[in-house]
Amino acid sequence: MKNLQDLIKITKQELIAALQAARTEKELEDVRIAYLGRTGKLLELMKQLKALPIEQKRTLGPLINELKTFAQEQYEAKKIQLQQQQAEQKAREQQYFDVTAYRPQKILGCTHIFTQLIEQLETIFISMGYDIADGPEVETDYYNFEALNIPADHPARDLHDTFWLDVPNMLLRTHTSSVQVHAMETQKLPIALLAPGRCYRNEATDASHDFMFMQAEGLLIDHDVSMAHLLATAKTFLQEIFEKKDLAIRVRPGYFPFVEPGVEIDAACPFCTSGCSTCKKTGWIELLGAGLVHPNVLQASGIDSEQYSGFAFGFGLERIAMIKYGINDIRLFRSNNIEFLEQF
Ligand code: DAH
Repeated sequence: MKNLQDLIKITKQELIAALQAARTEKELEDVRIAYLGRTGKLLELMKQLKALPIEQKRTLGPLINELKTFAQEQYEAKKIQLQQQQAEQKAREQQYFDVTAYRPQKILGCTHIFTQLIEQLETIFISMGYDIADGPEVETDYYNFEALNIPADHPARDLHDTFWLDVPNMLLRTHTSSVQVHAMETQKLPIALLAPGRCYRNEATDASHDFMFMQAEGLLIDHDVSMAHLLATAKTFLQEIFEKKDLAIRVRPGYFPFVEPGVEIDAACPFCTSGCSTCKKTGWIELLGAGLVHPNVLQASGIDSEQYSGFAFGFGLERIAMIKYGINDIRLFRSNNIEFLEQF
């Protein structure tokens, strides 16, 4: 009897020590299994008790039960204590979170090269008194062709590989010249506008052609507008864009149905004096289509061509960017290639 009673006492002392030593919930769980588990020390005591005579059972049985209750209570209390400690520890870690130890990866975005170029163009033209205009990319035959003096049977239509929509007479605009017509219909005279925007042509892509591209259209209508105004304007803005004060321009005749006379304006190559790969050894770069607005175009939008005259010009933004930054493939602009885009 003495033996089992002693064993109960020793077990209790060991239990107290083991609970005290447990530092984590896992360690505590091991203690619980060792004492209260199915093969634990308390069941072992019970087994020994069973072998003893009845009187001893009467005195020792309650002691073992007491120990069992004690073990359970102590286990629960220790568990709560550990959980509290853990929560406090976590709170402390958060409180002393070292912000300097964390270095977020810096990825600075930048605006797309078109956005930059358009902002630059807008600054230049606004400083010359122009408004910035916008128009729909889904157009009717009338605004894209008819009102610009390109009637249904006009051969110039063949030059515009048009994306026609399933809806009759609707198309994706092939140039920003269509914005001219909207402006002339709705705005008060005089008009001075620049209209940058997307255009579409149904053609195979290669290094210098894309089915979607950016243009900007310029239009000025007032009394007595002449070719001299057009050339001065073109020269000013090309000098600004290429950041070259003495940049020369040259004019060649060109045909566009909506202007008369029509011209093509070239700029002297900003990179060389005697010919390089950008200007293909010619010393000149073709940049603008332009001319004096055709009287038919003015009349179509209800402007008296006896009273008013105007000039118009159009150019591709990709071409300007490619020359300015030495880009050799037009498809790069829309490639989503971060390394390409990051350079600007
Ligand atoms: N719209 C023409 C094109 O896409 C460019 C152009 C040429 C615009 C002459 C003009 C112009 O305003 O006068 O090819």
